[in-house]
Amino acid sequence: MSLFKDMLKSGESLFRDTVFLSYDFQPKILHGRENEQQRFAVAIRPLLQGHSGRNLFVYGAPGIGKTTACKHVLRELQETTEEVVPIYINCWKENTTFKVFYKICEDLGYKFIQSKKTPELLTLIKNKLNKSSAVFIFDEIDKLEETDFLYTLLEDIYRKSIFLITNYRDSYSEMDERIRSRLNPEFLCFRAYNESEIAEILKQRREYAFAPHCWDEEAFKEVVEKCAETNDLRTGLYLMREAGNIAEDKSSRKINVEHVALACKKVDESFLKPKEGLDEELQLLLDLVKDKSGSRIGDIYAAYQVMGGELSYKSFQRRILKLQDGRYISTEKSTGLEGNTTLVHYAAEKKLTEF
Ligand SMILES: Nc1ncnc2c1ncn2[C@@H]1O[C@H](COP(=O)(O)OP(=O)(O)OP(=O)(O)O)[C@@H](O)[C@H]1O
Ligand SMILES: [Mg+2]
Repeated sequence: MSLFKDMLKSGESLFRDTVFLSYDFQPKILHGRENEQQRFAVAIRPLLQGHSGRNLFVYGAPGIGKTTACKHVLRELQETTEEVVPIYINCWKENTTFKVFYKICEDLGYKFIQSKKTPELLTLIKNKLNKSSAVFIFDEIDKLEETDFLYTLLEDIYRKSIFLITNYRDSYSEMDERIRSRLNPEFLCFRAYNESEIAEILKQRREYAFAPHCWDEEAFKEVVEKCAETNDLRTGLYLMREAGNIAEDKSSRKINVEHVALACKKVDESFLKPKEGLDEELQLLLDLVKDKSGSRIGDIYAAYQVMGGELSYKSFQRRILKLQDGRYISTEKSTGLEGNTTLVHYAAEKKLTEF
């Protein structure tokens, strides 16, 4: 049995419950998002008074609590009243009008809808929701292939609030004008957390997920720092889980800086959003940046033109910003002999060398 001799026994595990490190876990208390949650509540309030609600366009970088904050508000709403029906749709999964309507019908409790067509599904939705009122959250709207359902819901559901969530502020101007004029949303920008907020949030997760006192404080600080560099809380959760696994593999009773350093090495594209989420044009630009990682933005534009790219420099810059918003790439201001310029890095590559 020497094979297992040094292993930590059950009851000695460093983890209390890894569920608290999963990206989908919904914490009871959300640090630092009080104002944003207040904005959601204010938009919904008219529904509780029998009027129509307001619409919100929510945007901000990945992994900063947009989805979590929204779901949190829906849960509280559900605990307060049955008058307002909460509906959450992830548009990465439900990316067409049919799929969106189908999912809404399922969530509303309709059975035997397999053979129903889009208009029939809409009738079912209207039957139920026009008796009360509804809050719709459409998350990841930049992944939608069709948006007519928005037009339909805006026209056909009487009392509702619609919240759209995305990483890209641009997604709004790219939307159909008929939808925009009916939606007429207020804009809610989620700012990134600062380092002390990140520390607070990760500490809470550490308390739930790990046995007491198993983290070396210096090691934990490094996790917080790395997480603050990417601004994405998922980085922190990933590093905590990996460092814990590595420490257990080494039968260590403490998670130390060495384990965190090894975990940092493992951080790669795995928690970046998959490239498949990008449209063709952006994928092409991303490949170009990958090729020319570290070059000046002007040089990358020149290479783009040589390839036959037809965007103006301004539009090109906007696309580059969009890739940066999604954390596919990062940019860096630099001052050289020829004056100020922006250097563009492919994200995964920069990360690997940084760690
Ligand atoms: N204020 C907070 N307190 C506790 N946990 C948080 C907080 N904000 C975010 N998190 C956690 O961080 C992780 C990522 O958050 P979330 O999924 O809401 O990000 P997002 O902004 O929707 O990102 P994306 O744009 O990539 O969808 C989740 O596990 C969530 O529980
Ligand atoms: Mg989200």
